[in-house]
Amino acid sequence: MFASALLRVSIQLLLLASVLSQTIIVNNQVVPADESTIAPAFSLLEGSSSNSTADLFPGERRQLTDDVIANLTSLGLTNMILFNFPDPAIVPNGSIIGDCKTFPDDTVVFPGFITSRVFDLLLGGKLIQTKPLASPCYSEYGNQDAGKCAEITAEWSNDSYIHTNDPTSINAILYQGTTCVPHTVNPYAETCSLGAYPTISVNATTTAQVQLAINLARNLNLRLVIKNTGHDLSAKSTGAGALSIWTHNMKDIQFYEDYEEGSYKGPAFKMGAGVQTFEAYQAANKENVTIVGPEGKTVGITGGYILGGGHSPLSSIYGMAADHVLSMEVVTADGRSITASETSYPDLFWALRGGGGSTYGVVTSMVIKAFPKMSVATMTFSLTTGRTVSPDQFWQMVRAYFEDFIKYTDAGTYSYFNISALSGNYIFNMAPWFAPNMGIDELKNLTAPFWKAVEDIGLTADMQPVYHEYDNFYDAWDNSFPLEAWGSNLLRQGSRLFPRANWQDPVKLSDTFQAIRYVVDSGGLVMGYNLAPNPKSGYPDNAVNPAWREAVLHAIDAVTWTQDMYTELIQIWSSVLTFDWGPVWRAASPGSGAYLSEADYIEPDFQHSFWGDKYERLYQLKKELDPWDVFYAQNAVGSEDWEMSGFVFGDLPSQNSKLCRKGTSPVH
Ligand SMILES: Cc1cc2nc3c(=O)[nH]c(=O)nc-3n(C[C@H](O)[C@H](O)[C@H](O)COP(=O)(O)OP(=O)(O)OC[C@H]3O[C@@H](n4cnc5c(N)ncnc54)[C@H](O)[C@@H]3O)c2cc1C
Ligand SMILES: *[C@@H]1O[C@H](CO)[C@@H](O)[C@H](O)[C@H]1NC(C)=O
Ligand SMILES: *[C@@H]1O[C@H](CO)[C@@H](O)[C@H](O)[C@H]1NC(C)=O
Ligand SMILES: *[C@@H]1O[C@H](CO)[C@@H](O)[C@H](O)[C@H]1NC(C)=O
Ligand SMILES: *[C@@H]1O[C@H](CO)[C@@H](O)[C@H](O)[C@H]1NC(C)=O
Ligand SMILES: *[C@@H]1O[C@H](CO)[C@@H](O)[C@H](O)[C@H]1NC(C)=O
Ligand SMILES: *[C@@H]1O[C@H](CO)[C@@H](O)[C@H](O)[C@H]1NC(C)=O
Ligand SMILES: *[C@@H]1O[C@H](CO)[C@@H](O)[C@H](O)[C@H]1NC(C)=O
Ligand SMILES: *[C@@H]1O[C@H](CO)[C@@H](O)[C@H](O)[C@H]1NC(C)=O
Repeated sequence: MFASALLRVSIQLLLLASVLSQTIIVNNQVVPADESTIAPAFSLLEGSSSNSTADLFPGERRQLTDDVIANLTSLGLTNMILFNFPDPAIVPNGSIIGDCKTFPDDTVVFPGFITSRVFDLLLGGKLIQTKPLASPCYSEYGNQDAGKCAEITAEWSNDSYIHTNDPTSINAILYQGTTCVPHTVNPYAETCSLGAYPTISVNATTTAQVQLAINLARNLNLRLVIKNTGHDLSAKSTGAGALSIWTHNMKDIQFYEDYEEGSYKGPAFKMGAGVQTFEAYQAANKENVTIVGPEGKTVGITGGYILGGGHSPLSSIYGMAADHVLSMEVVTADGRSITASETSYPDLFWALRGGGGSTYGVVTSMVIKAFPKMSVATMTFSLTTGRTVSPDQFWQMVRAYFEDFIKYTDAGTYSYFNISALSGNYIFNMAPWFAPNMGIDELKNLTAPFWKAVEDIGLTADMQPVYHEYDNFYDAWDNSFPLEAWGSNLLRQGSRLFPRANWQDPVKLSDTFQAIRYVVDSGGLVMGYNLAPNPKSGYPDNAVNPAWREAVLHAIDAVTWTQDMYTELIQIWSSVLTFDWGPVWRAASPGSGAYLSEADYIEPDFQHSFWGDKYERLYQLKKELDPWDVFYAQNAVGSEDWEMSGFVFGDLPSQNSKLCRKGTSPVH
C-alpha cells in the first residue's frame, strides 16, 4: 500500500514537473531545471493576500497557496499529497503515520530515486545529498583530498564560519556520533559515515521550497530537521535519516526607518532566517541603530536564538531578543505560509517567541525593532592563584564581585565571566564587563566599591582592569567577543538561572556562592552572565521562560574530559554534571529554571525548567498546530512523546538512532 501510494505520488510529481516546466523532458531525458525555469510555478502568489505589514522578500513571494493548488487541481493534478494543506483537526488522513519516523533502510517509503529526483526538480536543483564536512579526510564519499583535509583540520575548532556555511555540520558532535571528524578530533577514527547527519538537505531560499520539504516529510513520515547555523548545543539541528531544511542562505535584510505595527512606530529590520549575528549587527551599525542580539558572532539571530528567547549584552536594558519581534513569516506543519504577529495568529506568535526552535514551524523571516545608537564602555580583568594570590584571596574577590549583581543590572550592565581550576590554579576571567550607555568614568564609578574590596583583599597589584570606550554598539561587541570556538566531543554542559531573591538575603547569597564554588572545586568549569532581562520599560507576554524575568545570574557549568579517557570514566563525569552539580544548583534556586538554548542535554523535567507554568499552553498549541509531530527536537515542546532508540555514554539520547513514539522503540 505504501509502495503504491508512493508510485502515485511520483507519477503525479512527474506530470506536474512537466506541466510546470517545458524544459524538463528533453530527448526523453530528464534534465535539471534551474531555478529560473521552475520559478514561474511559484511566482503565482505575487499580490495575493497576506497579513504581513512588511513586504515579503522575493523568495517569500514564491509560495504554494490555496489558489495555486486550486489551479493545479483544475489541471487534473488532483490529490497531490505533496501540495495539499491537510486540516490539523483530521489526522491521520493523507498521512503515513507509523510508530517510528521513516528511516533510510525502510526502502518501501523512504524517497527513492524518482521521488528524490522530481523533488529536486521542483526545488530548482536545491536538494543536497549529505557529504560530511570532514569527508575529504576519508575515502567513503569519493572526495578524498589531502589538501582540503589539512585545511579543514586546521580550521575545525577555531573557525566557526566553515561549519555555519556547511549544509549539515553541527556544534554538538557528541550527539551526532562523531562519525566523520578530523583526526585531531578523534585520532581513532578510520572511516567517515553520516551518523546523525541528515540524509538530504534542501538549500532553501524560497518559501515554496520550505513548503515542499515540510509536505514531503509530513506525508512520508520522514524525520525533519532544520539547520540554520548548527550552533545548538543540544544537537537540535541534526538527526539520523532526516530530511533537513537548511535556512542559512535566507540572507535578505531590509531596514525600515519608520515602521508601524500595532502600537510600535519606529525603526525596524526585516531579516531572513539565515542572517547571522555579525551580519545583523553590521546592518544595524550602517543605519546608526542598535538591535538586541547574541554575543556569539556566527550564531543565527532570527533562527534558534530568538525562537528560544535570546539573551544579549543589552538584556539588562532591553530584556530578551524575543521581546522585540514585531512579526514573523512562518511555514506551519500543514505546509501553509502565514504571518504570525499580535494580530495574525497571535497564539502561534506567542509560542514562537521563546517556545524554542523546530517546534511550531519554519520561520522564513522576522521583523524586529531597532533602537537608537548607543555608547558602550567595557572592562576586562583576570585573576589566577599562584605565588602572590592565595585561594582564599581568590574566592574573596569572586565573592566581592557577586555582592552587587542587582546594582549592576539595575544600571543596565552585563558581565560575562568564567572560573575554572583545571590547570591546578584557580582562574577567573572577566570577558568582558559590558556597560551600554556608559563611558569609562561611569563604569569606574559603578564598580568603585568592588575595586575598593579588591584593594582591601590585597589584590590591587594582581588585578589590572583594562577599559575601553566606544561610541557605538558594533565596535564594542566586535572587539569584546572573539570568534567562537566550534564544538568538541570532549565536554557537556548544564545551566541554571539564579533569581534576584538570592541576592536579597545574605544566607541565600552565601548558598548561591557556595553552589558555584562547589562545581569549580569538583573539577567543573563555570561560565556566568550577570544580566537581568526584566527591563523597567516592561516586556510583552510571550513564551520566554518566566525564570528569566527573576534572574540576575545565568550560570553554565561544564564538565570536560580528554580523548584517551575510558568510556566508564567519561560516563561518571557526565553523570556528575547532571546528577550531582545539577541538584546542588537547583537546591540553591528552588522554583527557578534553566535557559533552553544553553542547558543540560538531559535536563530533568525540562518542560517546567525551560518554560515554568507556560508549558501546558505550549504543549496544547503544539498538539493543535502540529498533530503529526512533523517537527521534533531534543527537549523541544512535545518531544516527551518521542524517544531516540540509541544512547551515548549510558543515558544521553543519540541522534544517530531511530526516532520513535515513546514506548514503541525497537531497540532499548
Ligand atoms: C558560541 C555560542 C554563543 C552563543 N551565544 C548566545 C548568546 O549570547 N545568547 C543566547 O541567548 N544564546 C547564545 N547561544 C545559544 C544559541 O542561542 C543557540 O545555540 C541557538 O539554538 C542557535 O540558533 P541557530 O539558529 O544559530 O542554530 P541551529 O543549531 O541551526 O538551530 C537551533 C534550533 O533552532 C531551530 N531553527 C533554526 N532556524 C529555524 C527556523 N528558521 N525556524 C524554525 N526553527 C529553526 C533548529 O532546528 C534548532 O532546533 C550561543 C551558542 C553558542 C554555541
Ligand atoms: C489560476 O489560473 C487562472 C487561469 O489561467 C489565472 O488567471 C490565475 O491567475 C491563476 N491563479 C493563480 C493563483 O495562479
Ligand atoms: C478521515 O478520517 C476520519 C476519521 O478517522 C474518517 O471518518 C474519514 O472518512 C477520513 N476521510 C478520508 C477522506 O479518508
Ligand atoms: C585557525 O588556526 C589556523 C592554524 O593555527 C590558522 O591558520 C587560521 O588562520 C585560524 N583561523 C581563524 C579563523 O582564526
Ligand atoms: C545554496 O544556494 C545558494 C543560493 O542559491 C548558492 O549560492 C549555494 O551555492 C548553494 N549551496 C550549496 C551547498 O548547494
Ligand atoms: C550614520 O552616522 C554617520 C556619522 O554620524 C554618518 O556619517 C552617516 O551618514 C549616518 N548614516 C546613516 C544611514 O544615517
Ligand atoms: C490574518 O489574520 C486573521 C486573524 O488571525 C486570520 O483570521 C486570517 O486568516 C489571516 N489571513 C491570512 C491571509 O493569513
Ligand atoms: C575565559 O575567558 C577568557 C577571556 O575571554 C578566554 O580567553 C578563555 O578562553 C575563557 N575560558 C573558557 C574555559 O571559556
Ligand atoms: C557614581 O555612583 C553613585 C552611586 O554609586 C551615584 O550616586 C553617582 O551619581 C555616580 N556618579 C556618576 C558621575 O556617575
